[in-house]
Amino acid sequence: MIARALPIPAYTQEIIEGLTSPRKALPCKLFYDELGSTLFEEITRLPEYYLTRTELEILETSSQEIVRTAGSPAAVVELGAGTARKTATLLAAIVRRQIAVKYLPVDISPSALGEAKRRISAEVPGALVRPVVADFGQGFGFLGELPSPKLVLYLGSSIGNFDLSDAIAMLRAVRRQLLPGDCLLLGTDMVKSPAILLPAYDDARGITAEFNRNVLRRINREFGANFDLDSFRHLALWNKAGSRMEIYLESSRPQKVTLKLTGTVVEFGNRERVHTENSYKYNRSMILNMLSDSGFTLAKSWFDSRKWFGLHLARA
Ligand code: AVI
Repeated sequence: MIARALPIPAYTQEIIEGLTSPRKALPCKLFYDELGSTLFEEITRLPEYYLTRTELEILETSSQEIVRTAGSPAAVVELGAGTARKTATLLAAIVRRQIAVKYLPVDISPSALGEAKRRISAEVPGALVRPVVADFGQGFGFLGELPSPKLVLYLGSSIGNFDLSDAIAMLRAVRRQLLPGDCLLLGTDMVKSPAILLPAYDDARGITAEFNRNVLRRINREFGANFDLDSFRHLALWNKAGSRMEIYLESSRPQKVTLKLTGTVVEFGNRERVHTENSYKYNRSMILNMLSDSGFTLAKSWFDSRKWFGLHLARA
């Protein structure tokens, strides 16, 4: 058999630094390989994971009012659209007012975008779907080329996976491509009891644990590493002071792991943790500050009846 050299992934430096630092960490973007994206879709249907269902409920009850407040957009751009499961209701409310609208779902996954295009074209015939394959790391230049008024959607509380300063930097980069009056519709998960939050990130069927451990499977595949997945426990903790859920993988024994591709040896102590994700939960003042620090003014927020999730319409 001919041994093929593994290609060097773009995020190699980040991974090596993360695994060899005194407080081990891995970037959460690594979750979303093919299996990870499928596991995430499964998470969104879990009884404990209320986020997706709740956001959908808000869109179903409030889309008409959201669209009325936003005005008549020439283009709707959805950042991190995935398969666009939640967007049809909003687009349908738009085409009820203005016959047609351009819809640009943006994602790094071409297969997810293919499904988004099929779904939206079938469910909202007035929407002209133009998928954009893009990685946010390369900036938002594509936004500047679209007609205004624009409505940019960033749903699902994906903003919550950024630390606060990175979230502001990301929203500012979006804002720089918008004209005054263009709108942003931002989804955020709200602070609530740990009794609700903890199971949402540590479900009974262990799907979230599998999603978390899949990061190690990916490093094994892409870096020729020998992580023993069964010796890492999924941990989900509520950090009240930081207003965030923190996700870790905890080694259940002292062990050494080798990444053949880079020749890196990583040592783990018993119960040593790798931090894999933060998921911020917001209150009103956090949202107001984040929006104003990034050049937006909040026009209106919509919530579900329990105030578990919020959709915020902000103007550039
Ligand atoms: C994608 N993101 C909004 C999810 C969240 O809730 O932070 C990712 C996730 N991590 C564990 N479960 C879901």
